[in-house]
Amino acid sequence: MKKQEEKQFEPKIVAFLCTWCSYAGADLAGIGRYQYPPNIRVIRVPCSSRVDPLYILKALQNGADGVLVSGCHPGDCHYIEGNYYARRKFLILKNLLEFLGLEEGRVQFSWVSAAEGERFSQVIKEVTESVRLLGPAKKMVKTLDMPEEIMRELMEEQKEDQTCPERHE
Ligand code: FES
Repeated sequence: MKKQEEKQFEPKIVAFLCTWCSYAGADLAGIGRYQYPPNIRVIRVPCSSRVDPLYILKALQNGADGVLVSGCHPGDCHYIEGNYYARRKFLILKNLLEFLGLEEGRVQFSWVSAAEGERFSQVIKEVTESVRLLGPAKKMVKTLDMPEEIMRELMEEQKEDQTCPERHE
């Protein structure tokens, strides 16, 4: 039964794609009819450097099993050196995620150009397969398993915030 469940696991993957290369590559994959798994949810960004590491953490916190960031090949960035900044940022983020205990492979980076439709489909297949093998993400997911006392305090604070300030006068 457990093995059957594992087989049925379909990971949710958030893919941040730079509009000039990887997003166009995804388009080309569609035009060229290169198939890839439907597990990705695409977020189009102007450049890979536009992806704040916090977006990645937020995606994981909100239930994504994996995150892919894909941009132009080094040297091909539409904004000259955006992807170099991105590469540096992600290297630091990777170390942070390892420190937090996140499995390697949950967050992946790749470079796909606008002319690489087939490569795009290959990257998505590989990312989906590797995240599938890792299973559902549990490390960063926000849970509501808070002690009841803290939950009550938060609810009361929220109630106070909602009162109209003019009424206190
Ligand atoms: Fe594609 Fe910068 S424009 S990575």
